[in-house]
Amino acid sequence: MTIEIICAVPELLQSPFEHSIMKRAQERGLLSLKIHSLRKWAINKHGQIDDYQYGGGAGMVMMCEPLANAIDELQQEGKFDEIIFMTPDGKTFDQKQTNSLSLKNRILIICGHYKGIDQRIRDLYVTLEISIGDYVLSGGELAAAVIVDAIGRVIPGVINDETSALTDSFQDNLLAPPVYSRPAEFRGLEVPPVLLTGDPKKVEQWRLEQALARTKERRPDILDKE
Ligand code: ADE
Repeated sequence: MTIEIICAVPELLQSPFEHSIMKRAQERGLLSLKIHSLRKWAINKHGQIDDYQYGGGAGMVMMCEPLANAIDELQQEGKFDEIIFMTPDGKTFDQKQTNSLSLKNRILIICGHYKGIDQRIRDLYVTLEISIGDYVLSGGELAAAVIVDAIGRVIPGVINDETSALTDSFQDNLLAPPVYSRPAEFRGLEVPPVLLTGDPKKVEQWRLEQALARTKERRPDILDKE
């Protein structure tokens, strides 16, 4: 899968993908990431990509031309399956959306800055608008890093233990059950005995009960999500 990102501050997106699972996904050729600085398509030699907003008001707006030229140029290599704009007024990102995006072949993510991007780019190009939560970040880069990480880990073959990503919280509309490692007793707290029985059926049953109890207590809203 190829994910391309257009943004104003590409430096913010360097480190998150150079380690751990995201690094491995790229090394294995399962994920190809291309990060583009919007300044490459700036309207003048000063690197201008934003301007005052019509109607007045505080905050600059990312202009049409640089974004349209960038998208048009990148689409010459083939159409994107999805053109995503990261924005706090988008649809809240969740595991269902993550799984569905991980099945696409080539997607483009546009990161906003300042007051946002000119509405005409949203009207003309954007196919999906995503928010990572009800708060405002300084720019879309960190939000893009969040969704790329979430998408990357569910691409088949990225995580060694195939079942691991499928047992994450939110898969099956359940939070994950508690997990334990050695030692069997720590500061007076013992690992639940069922996990030491070596009986996979009993362990699975216990995990399901724990996941259900935790979800009912903490996130009853996700239980009957489609
Ligand atoms: N850009 C700024 N804030 C954001 C958010 N909450 N989600 C996605 N993109 C954003």
